Amino acid sequence: MFSYRHAFHAGNHADVLKHMTLVAILQYMGQKDTGFTVVDTHAGAGVYRLDQDHARKSAESDAGIFRLLAAVEAAKAGSQPVPDLVKHYLQQVRGFNNGSSKDMRVYPGSPWLSQALLRPQDKLKLFEVHPTDSRLLDNQVAELGRGKQIEVLRRNGFEGLKSLLPTPTRRGLVLIDPSYELKTDYAAVIDCLEEALQRFPIGTYAVWYPVIGRPEAHSLARKLKAMSQRLQRSWVQAELNVGLTPTEGTSAQVAQGRAHTAMRASGMHVINPPFTLAAQLREALPFVTEALKDPIGSGWTVESGNY
Ligand SMILES: C[S@@+](CC[C@H](N)C(=O)[O-])C[C@H]1O[C@@H](n2cnc3c(N)ncnc32)[C@H](O)[C@@H]1O
Repeated sequence: MFSYRHAFHAGNHADVLKHMTLVAILQYMGQKDTGFTVVDTHAGAGVYRLDQDHARKSAESDAGIFRLLAAVEAAKAGSQPVPDLVKHYLQQVRGFNNGSSKDMRVYPGSPWLSQALLRPQDKLKLFEVHPTDSRLLDNQVAELGRGKQIEVLRRNGFEGLKSLLPTPTRRGLVLIDPSYELKTDYAAVIDCLEEALQRFPIGTYAVWYPVIGRPEAHSLARKLKAMSQRLQRSWVQAELNVGLTPTEGTSAQVAQGRAHTAMRASGMHVINPPFTLAAQLREALPFVTEALKDPIGSGWTVESGNY
């Protein structure tokens, strides 16, 4: 059974890159009146406490969202500019914390950021297979009281996605954010995207991937780019490397099955992105990298192709 729980990682550097990109895409999609559907194939539990057990044990948010908040406060104090996308993303995160960055206790996962950016005409479909996290997600979604607008599906997101495509209004975002706990997830991402793009070629697809020393991970970033080019879909690929110190991924943590803590970098590949996305990320990522970087090295890249 799966052991990955996103609660250990909520608000880390990978979430910062992923969720900043998600906010940029959803804010752009919200500019047109026609409703859209968001499909989150790997939703997680929805919303996370940063001051409770799971998060405190790993403290990944200290090197992620909390460093970013501190950098923004320092920039404001020094009258330095903060990129718009960073502001928009943090505004969303603060929205779950009484509008404040001082006492941040809650971190919104992708389902929570998405639901906050839905209009009445939009829909959200959430796949999650982990028994505990899908139950948590179910309960939290029920508390929102949004009826049929948000649906939780306790099934394999790679397999279930096709049944939802094309989306009813032909406007849709698919977020594919596996834990890559299974080696087969890398190939499943490509297979699932190939099929999804055949059914719904004009949809926007955002895929998160880890940048780690594993051959499947290296080849996934390359394969995503090659697929977008072969299918002549516009794309943006952004990577953020914060060079976390080896102490944050100790062998003890690896032994406990929490090897994800050793991840130093990750990427987002977006197919059919908003035309504004590459520029927004190019403006935001130097600031984010500076805020989150560790002395052993850091960096960012944004590549794009237009068709
Ligand atoms: C990285 S986490 C998701 C985090 C979430 N998207 C966010 O940004 O807040 C990946 C999740 O996918 C779930 N999962 C793993 N394999 C899955 C599958 N085939 N279908 C649906 N969910 C899956 C895991 O239980 C885990 O909760």
